[in-house]
Amino acid sequence: MGSILQSLQRTIIAGVVLLVLIIAAVAATAGNAITFDHAWGAFVMRWLHVLVGVMWIGLLWYFNFVQIPSMPKIPDEQKPAVSKVIAPTALFWFRYAALFTVVTGLLLAGANGYLVQALTLQRPVLAIGIGMWLAIVMAFNVWFIIWPNQKKALGMVQVEAAEKAAAARLAMLTSRFNTMFSIPMLYMMVAQQNGGL
Ligand code: HEM
Repeated sequence: MGSILQSLQRTIIAGVVLLVLIIAAVAATAGNAITFDHAWGAFVMRWLHVLVGVMWIGLLWYFNFVQIPSMPKIPDEQKPAVSKVIAPTALFWFRYAALFTVVTGLLLAGANGYLVQALTLQRPVLAIGIGMWLAIVMAFNVWFIIWPNQKKALGMVQVEAAEKAAAARLAMLTSRFNTMFSIPMLYMMVAQQNGGL
């Protein structure tokens, strides 16, 4: 067990193996075997979508609940541990999780047969349509406002001190904006299936 958990890659593989074992055990004991049809394919897409969505919003909340409020409490000489090591790694997973959430979400809407209806906010799929637009705005913010400004703020792109401070502030405020959007976005995302709107 220790040899699995010491490696992140092996841990993720073990999680997938565990899932397959649970599904097989349920099929063997409760007898409700999965039929690998289109509906199951759409369901797997939903599962992948939720996985990457959790990583995205988890990291967004990590920045807002943990990293940003902690920075003023860290002595200056220790700040590079965050700005040079932790933040660039977190931002890497953050922006690719955002990208994959959008891609899997759009594929899911396509597989469910309502991509255009949702994007044009038709009544039967209004909740998911609103959720999708809120999340699309958030993903745009990640790639086109937060990431370019964070590169300046973290010193990955060299700029003057005043521009660096302005970039850090804009990245922080946009990150806050996304945290605000994440609350109605998640409500709308789960409202479609569960009668929340
Ligand atoms: C542009 C981005 C996104 C798009 C296009 C999108 C699209 C979708 C679609 C089409 C569904 C299926 C809805 C249904 O039929 O019930 C869905 C479900 C879901 N999405 Fe998203 N989504 C996006 C972002 C997110 C984010 C950031 C999260 C955060 C975790 C998220 C979490 C969920 C969850 C939990 C469900 C399952 C809802 C349920 O089964 O009740 N989505 N999404």
